[in-house]
Amino acid sequence: MSDSEIKSAVKEKYGEIARKSGSCCGPACGCGTDAGIAGTITMNDLYSGVDADVRESADLGLGCGTPTAFAGLEEGMTVLDLGSGAGIDVFVAARKVGPSGKVIGVDMTEEMIKRAEANKRKLKAANTEFRLGEIESLPVASGSVDRIISNCVINLVPDKTRAFAEMYRVMKPGGKFTVSDIVSVGQIPEDVRKDMTEWAGCVAGALDRDQYLGVARDAGFRDVTVVADKSYDVDVTVHFGLHSITVSGTR
Ligand SMILES: C[S@@+](CC[C@H](N)C(=O)[O-])C[C@H]1O[C@@H](n2cnc3c(N)ncnc32)[C@H](O)[C@@H]1O
Repeated sequence: MSDSEIKSAVKEKYGEIARKSGSCCGPACGCGTDAGIAGTITMNDLYSGVDADVRESADLGLGCGTPTAFAGLEEGMTVLDLGSGAGIDVFVAARKVGPSGKVIGVDMTEEMIKRAEANKRKLKAANTEFRLGEIESLPVASGSVDRIISNCVINLVPDKTRAFAEMYRVMKPGGKFTVSDIVSVGQIPEDVRKDMTEWAGCVAGALDRDQYLGVARDAGFRDVTVVADKSYDVDVTVHFGLHSITVSGTR
C-alpha cells in the first residue's frame, strides 16, 4: 500500500463529502464510518459558541477538537490551517486575527477548496485565502506564519515526519502550532493499518500518542504539550484505544 494509494482514498472520501450540499454530521461522514472500528469519531457540538453564519456555512462535522480555542490567536497574526476542508477553523481564526491579520487554508482535495472558496465569498472573509496543496510540501513561504492550526487531519498524512518538518519550515521563530488529531493508545495492528477504509476514517493512520509527540519534538518543536484529551469508545475486540488530543508546540 503506497502513500499515493492512501492519498487517493482520502481525496475520494473527502471529495465526496465536499460535493454533498449540506452539513455532513453522522456515521457515513467524516472520520470513522458506520462499518469501521471506531464508528463515527468526530464530535458534533464543537462549534456551538461560534457565530451562526460561520457554523452554518462551513462546519461539515469533520473536526475532532477546537485548536482555535488554544492557539493564542491575536489581532494581526498570520495563521495557517492544515487540511482546512470547507474552512470552518479558517473563518473562526479570521475573526480573531481581524482585518490586519490573515488566515491561509491548505487542502489537497480540489472539491474542498472550491467549497471553502464559496464559503469565503458568502461570509465576505477578505482576510482568508485557500490554497490547493499537500501538507508534506506546503505551498507556503519559509518562516512566514505565526500560528499553525489543524483539525483531524495529520492522522490522514502517510509521512508525518515530513508533515511536521514542513510545519517547522513555514513557521516564524517563536511561532506555535496547535493541532487536534486522532491518536492511538497502544499500537494499531498491521491488518488494520492496511485497510483503506480505516485510513480514510482516521483510524489506520493514527500514531501512538507518545510516538506522535515524539515526531513533533524530533522536528525541532519545543514545549510539546497535550492541552486537551478525549477518549472514544471503540470496538471491544480491538486492543488499542483511540483518543482525540489537542497538542501545541513552539518553534
Ligand atoms: C477530516 S477532514 C477535516 C477538515 C477540516 N479540518 C474540518 O475540521 O472540518 C480532513 C481534510 O484534510 C485534507 N487532507 C488530508 N490529507 C491531506 C494532505 N496530505 N494534504 C492536504 N490536505 C489533506 C482532506 O482533503 C480533508 O479536507
